[in-house]
Amino acid sequence: MIEDVQDLSFTEKRKRFERKKLLVCIGKSFMAIPLSVCAMMLLALALNGNFLEAFDRANVVVTTCKFVIAAALMAILFAAIYHFTHEQNKSTEYYWIACIAVVASVVASLIGIKYCNIYVIHVTLAELIVIELVDRRSAALSLVVSGLMVVVIYLGNPAYDIGVIISAIICNSISGIIINFLVHRHYSRFKFLLMTFIVPFTVLPLVEMFTFIEGDLDMTILWNTIGSYGANVVSGILFMPIVAILESVFNIPDDFRLSELCNLSNPLLKRLASEAPGTFNHSLVVGTLAEACASAIGENPNMARCAAYYHDIGKLKAPTYFSENQSTYNPHDELIPEVSVSMITSHTLFGEILAKQNRLPSEIVDICRQHHGTSTVGYFYRKALALKEDGDLAVNKYTYAGPKPQTKVAAIIMVADTIEAAMRAYMPDTREEYEARINKLVDEKIAMRQFDECPITMNDISVIKNTIIEVLPSIHHKRVDYDKRKEPATEENKNS
Ligand SMILES: [Fe+2]
Ligand SMILES: [Fe+2]
Repeated sequence: MIEDVQDLSFTEKRKRFERKKLLVCIGKSFMAIPLSVCAMMLLALALNGNFLEAFDRANVVVTTCKFVIAAALMAILFAAIYHFTHEQNKSTEYYWIACIAVVASVVASLIGIKYCNIYVIHVTLAELIVIELVDRRSAALSLVVSGLMVVVIYLGNPAYDIGVIISAIICNSISGIIINFLVHRHYSRFKFLLMTFIVPFTVLPLVEMFTFIEGDLDMTILWNTIGSYGANVVSGILFMPIVAILESVFNIPDDFRLSELCNLSNPLLKRLASEAPGTFNHSLVVGTLAEACASAIGENPNMARCAAYYHDIGKLKAPTYFSENQSTYNPHDELIPEVSVSMITSHTLFGEILAKQNRLPSEIVDICRQHHGTSTVGYFYRKALALKEDGDLAVNKYTYAGPKPQTKVAAIIMVADTIEAAMRAYMPDTREEYEARINKLVDEKIAMRQFDECPITMNDISVIKNTIIEVLPSIHHKRVDYDKRKEPATEENKNS
């Protein structure tokens, strides 16, 4: 929220809302810990062939301790995810994804150790999944938790040398940490895969040194080296289908999915282009502005572009009621202002419904609903006011239903949308006039307290404004009218 305009009661309400959200989040994702830990530990016991033995009188305490430690490690990962994703739109799916990533990584490691080589430990798998679907810091911790889970499972097992397992986890973790530094979320699937083929080479000398220290001087060095490299490469290959399944099941807007949604051949965008071409062009321009603004304030530019493309899909219900899709006929000429305004404002609600029907990510569904906040539809309010004889008219019947933007990206869409629509109607000729108009539009939104419910600062708004001031003229650039040029038309400039 903007520090300058927030009041105490609002801050208190916000804190209560956050606490309630946290409790709901914990409630919804709490079962992920016992379910994932039980599944993982039971599978580990079955794979190691000591399932029944683990629960006999002599071993039941040790087995229980292992379950408790595994649950504690998972709880630490949960706390870290909550802390690291605090500023984002918190989602219970993140916790389930982290659990699934750790379980997949540990199970793959158990299979690798049992059937291939002790260095076949897939800690990188958990990290890659969490990098792509949650965030990088949570990913680093999920790598550590996966490694510790493997240690807990093999601790006290006389068939395996725990020292060698720890050495293998260290080597493969270093490879994972390097990948975490090099690969960022905006990489393509191919670059992710390429990185998992190249980076593991860097830790091979370390694998050889560890094996040498452990006293194995024969072919073990070669097998351990191949095992460590193979584990990281297989993690990169397994990561692709697992992420594709998880992003579809949990409807997660990772960059792969966002770029698919931004593809203009997407059915909903194709429908927008054919049924509401004016809205479609407006959405593309808002997308360019929003992407630049998101980059400027450190938000996800792909999310901003994608949200901008879909923010006005609600206009598909009645495209001709919106000025950008009108040519000569204006249906509002035949309607009273009350009906006109309800037609206009309902596009946020219909957009939300359409977005849900098309299984768009929840962040985009929310932006369809929030991008006008509780702003007033000024034109129809003034029209209705002019028709009233007593000059008294409640403004709340001429405002959008809200809610106000809840995230920084939603606020960016609101600002970019407002400015683009206003500049499409009238683009000032001078730079001073142009800047003054943008400042006025944003100041109006601040005065209407539209940014009170999202964590955006005055500095962010200033950066967003300046970015739009720089980017918009290049989009609304006017071409030279060659027919009106004073020079005589030559063959050369005719063809240019
Ligand atoms: Fe809109
Ligand atoms: Fe719009």
